[in-house]
Amino acid sequence: MSTAISFEGVSKTFEVKGRRVDALRDVQLEVERGTVFGLVGYSGAGKSTLLRTVNALERPTAGRVVVDGAVVSELQGAALSRARQRIGMIFQQFNLLQSRNVYRNVAYPLALAGVPKAEIVDRVEELLEFVGLTDKALSYPAQLSGGQKQRVGIARALATRPDILLSDEATSALDPQTTGEVLDLLRRANAEYGVTILLVTHEMDVIREIADRVAVMQDGQVVETGSVYDVFSAPLAATTQRFVSSVLHHVPGADALERIKRVHHGRLVQIHVENRESNDPFLSRIARRHDVDFNVVYGGVSELQSRLFGTLTVELLGDDLDVEAAIRDIREATGVSELTHA
Ligand SMILES: Nc1ncnc2c1ncn2[C@@H]1O[C@H](COP(=O)(O)OP(=O)(O)O)[C@@H](O)[C@H]1O
Ligand SMILES: [Mg+2]
Repeated sequence: MSTAISFEGVSKTFEVKGRRVDALRDVQLEVERGTVFGLVGYSGAGKSTLLRTVNALERPTAGRVVVDGAVVSELQGAALSRARQRIGMIFQQFNLLQSRNVYRNVAYPLALAGVPKAEIVDRVEELLEFVGLTDKALSYPAQLSGGQKQRVGIARALATRPDILLSDEATSALDPQTTGEVLDLLRRANAEYGVTILLVTHEMDVIREIADRVAVMQDGQVVETGSVYDVFSAPLAATTQRFVSSVLHHVPGADALERIKRVHHGRLVQIHVENRESNDPFLSRIARRHDVDFNVVYGGVSELQSRLFGTLTVELLGDDLDVEAAIRDIREATGVSELTHA
């Protein structure tokens, strides 16, 4: 695999009325060609600023951004225009031209690039079919739903056959059902056209749906990066843990834990299920072997990238020695931590 985008020590400081805002601090990140890479973080973390350095809508104060071997952060004039034709972008507010119909919105970047008219006609037809809007070619943006507008945005962004697609909160204004449809479309664009997608979102669900890898940003820095499986199954940074628990309900919060301890007086353990095959009934095997009972009192297991992970909070009931032996076996099979009664 080769690198599509590399951020090399990228910093960006804005100066507003004499006040300095460090929007990006020494960001070091590589995005492999052909992948879907997610950038997640709370509002103000610096996600949009980082994304916008890729097509030089923002220039770093320090460091450089290299796209397909070209240092875009230093390009000017015609060279920059050429580089930008290789990079499409979609936005939360769609940014369609209101006075042009769907056909002419999609044709716009092709006309700008000087593509001959006959070719434009073919290409726009192909794109509208790809996004499922052939019958809306003559509609105006105001006549479309949010999901349809974003599909026009995607068709327009793909028009010049870019290598890279930048997506800044493209589904944040859409309902969950429409979000799913738009993410499916982005997945297809990645699979069928091989376009590398760098996608900014504040929603961890979006990352789970579509990304291969993810970087978590906070205060202008990347605080964690890894495969979506690794980041969801074993989040390291506190911010990442908050994002992950916002979409997975595997681990009880402090209140839930107090309730559990009031009600359940057996031995409480948290079992961290990781990298398990879904058809291995290891818990019931261990229960039978040691003659203990498992009472699952909280937790969940999820599948991601075809592998299982999760956390089960379990009350173990049985003779002390049997319970000890069972815990040893679970520990061998997977991760365990104890929740002692205080
Ligand atoms: N053009 C700008 N001028 C001044 N400050 C800006 C500008 N763009 C972004 N910022 C500031 O930089 C920080 C990061 O913003 P942004 O990249 O938009 O974050 P995010 O997309 O993660 O919400 C914020 O504090 C924001 O106010
Ligand atoms: Mg933003």
